[in-house]
Amino acid sequence: MIHHIPNILSPEQVRYFREEMSKVDWVNGKVTAGTLSATVKHNQQLSNDHPLTKHLGDIILESLGQHPLFLSAAIPLDIIPPLFNRYEQHQSFGFHVDNSIRRVQGSQERLRTDLSCTLFLSDPHEYDGGELVIEDTYGYHEVKLPAGDLILYPSTSLHEVTSIQSGCRLASFFWIQSMIRDDSNRHMLFTLDQSIQQLRMELGDQHEQVIKLTSLYHNLIRKWAEL
Ligand code: NI
Repeated sequence: MIHHIPNILSPEQVRYFREEMSKVDWVNGKVTAGTLSATVKHNQQLSNDHPLTKHLGDIILESLGQHPLFLSAAIPLDIIPPLFNRYEQHQSFGFHVDNSIRRVQGSQERLRTDLSCTLFLSDPHEYDGGELVIEDTYGYHEVKLPAGDLILYPSTSLHEVTSIQSGCRLASFFWIQSMIRDDSNRHMLFTLDQSIQQLRMELGDQHEQVIKLTSLYHNLIRKWAEL
């Protein structure tokens, strides 16, 4: 399931990110690619160990932790510290699948990548091309979101970033290990949670059916969660 999560960053935060990112040097994006995807990856990144990468990444992580729609859709156990990329004219990242296991920079910790995320930092009118194309069982989805918005998709999906015709595309990208490994189980929990939130507004928190469905939600998490 592919989710569009709006307003992870405010317009002021996006401006701050871009200003800071314009002051530092960028490196070749192949540094974080697997051997196969390195052959199709043509972009630049902020260095993994640059202090700005951690600083801006921490702002994103803090915002994610307070975003109900993101938490409901991802049910995150752990999140790889966000990285940042830049595509300029004629740059692209051909079809690939993300590595299944990633090591957290500077630690022995490893994560299974259940969900891949792209947080857009450029607005769609600032560049031509540069769509994120995600393949799922229903076909191909072309994604180009407003700056500050996030796309969340299963890491099992083949995906690409099409060639930039003009302008420049800035984004943050990162991976999540979810407490709910199975995508269809996670999606059922998301649908149930969203319905409960709607019923709470319509019926109140103490309505018998709200309590029963909330109990069902938690018992399914208890049944499926891996910590
Ligand atoms: Ni990728």
